[in-house]
Amino acid sequence: MNITIIGTGFVGVVSAAVYASFGNNVIGLDIDPKKINSLKLGKVPFFEPKLEDLLIQQQNSKNLTFTTSYEKAIADAQIVIIAVGTPSLPSGAVDLTYIKQACEDLAPHLKENTIVVIKSTVPPGIFKEIKPIIASKTKVNFYLAALPEFLKEGTAVDDTLNPDRIVIGAIEETVINQLTKLHQPFNAPIVTVKPESAQMIKYTANAYLATRITFINQIADLCEHNGADINDVIEGIGYDKRIGHHYWYPGLGYGGSCFPKDVNELASYAKKVKEDKNLVITIGKLNEQRIPKLLNKYSSLIGGWKNKTIGILGISFKPNTNDTREAPALKIIPELLNKGSIVNAFDPKAIWSPSNNSNYTQAKTAKEAINKADCIMVLVEWPEFINYKFPKVEKPTLFIDTRNLFEAEKLSSLGYTYQGIGR
Ligand code: UGA
Repeated sequence: MNITIIGTGFVGVVSAAVYASFGNNVIGLDIDPKKINSLKLGKVPFFEPKLEDLLIQQQNSKNLTFTTSYEKAIADAQIVIIAVGTPSLPSGAVDLTYIKQACEDLAPHLKENTIVVIKSTVPPGIFKEIKPIIASKTKVNFYLAALPEFLKEGTAVDDTLNPDRIVIGAIEETVINQLTKLHQPFNAPIVTVKPESAQMIKYTANAYLATRITFINQIADLCEHNGADINDVIEGIGYDKRIGHHYWYPGLGYGGSCFPKDVNELASYAKKVKEDKNLVITIGKLNEQRIPKLLNKYSSLIGGWKNKTIGILGISFKPNTNDTREAPALKIIPELLNKGSIVNAFDPKAIWSPSNNSNYTQAKTAKEAINKADCIMVLVEWPEFINYKFPKVEKPTLFIDTRNLFEAEKLSSLGYTYQGIGR
């Protein structure tokens, strides 16, 4: 099939490469010539395992090309997939500027009966707004469909090649048939529903996972008052088949470019429709309060942050990515610097620095970051940190393990004062 993907951000590039790998003729379109030139060379501006190899492979096989020209990209497309960004407005509601702009720009080039698919995360019911925008700029018949994305950063290629499910939101039979055919090779369950349900599925999945993480963090807080260990609790509840062991290790709350944004958008929607007491509103608030609450506690453990040297391990929002959006480090480091600490941070992939602060260094190695530290904070479960041989220390050193990766006894025997989460 001839497929065009508009927006070569994270989701757009991964989807383009994967659809191409199933033998489709894919064009990736972006208005940014710098991005397109770099993609043509097989380079992506972020770290994502396996992506560059797939990109190069598919461009060599001629299944995948990139362009900045709407005319060239849309003219022969049977399916146009919009994967542009949908950032949040200050109110928490979705900013649809890029979606609307893409619709305006693609419309004049559409051929008869093209399917325009929205992959970006958008509020249910949005087709009522989008349809007239496209219709005002074309005379041909076109269809709209929703195709929400469920990939995770760090495993995006594998997630897209082997999805748990494909959700198609469409009404017309011809659209359902074509999108089903496109996704047959993925060998995954295909859920076909109306567009509003598909869009709600996306928000619900993310809000549920965010709730699960918030819930276990709340239970972890209670464990700290009574001597229970949250890891034991998860072990014990997980054998109940209705509950499971997966996807609720406790920590600093959820980060990244999706959960905080999607929970806030759903909360903003709940308020708009006067569901003021909806749980998602509370989930968002609890997540925002989590890091400040923990920092307060850690501050009292170390006797205040002033003049303390802090070694931070992990700047990205999670392992196997260099994405720092809503990363714990970006909330913690500025606060520590504000309170007068000297901060040395290391991450295997992510690079970040606050503007003009001589008390901050991005270290080149974990060893350099923790050297002479009064406090070590492990913020991300990078494999490098899990396997790291922490040295014996002579002076009092607080070891904050925000991912419960280490054995308290082992670190105590090396001279550290261990502090995990909920244990
Ligand atoms: C998330 C979803 O998992 C994907 O299904 C979805 O497609 C994506 O958002 C999106 O909407 O685009 P992602 O943000 O890449 O994917 O990352 P996750 O691995 O789900 O982690 C999200 C956050 O939750 C991270 O801060 C992570 O550290 C935290 N987390 C995750 C926990 O604190 N505990 C866990 O058990 C799992």
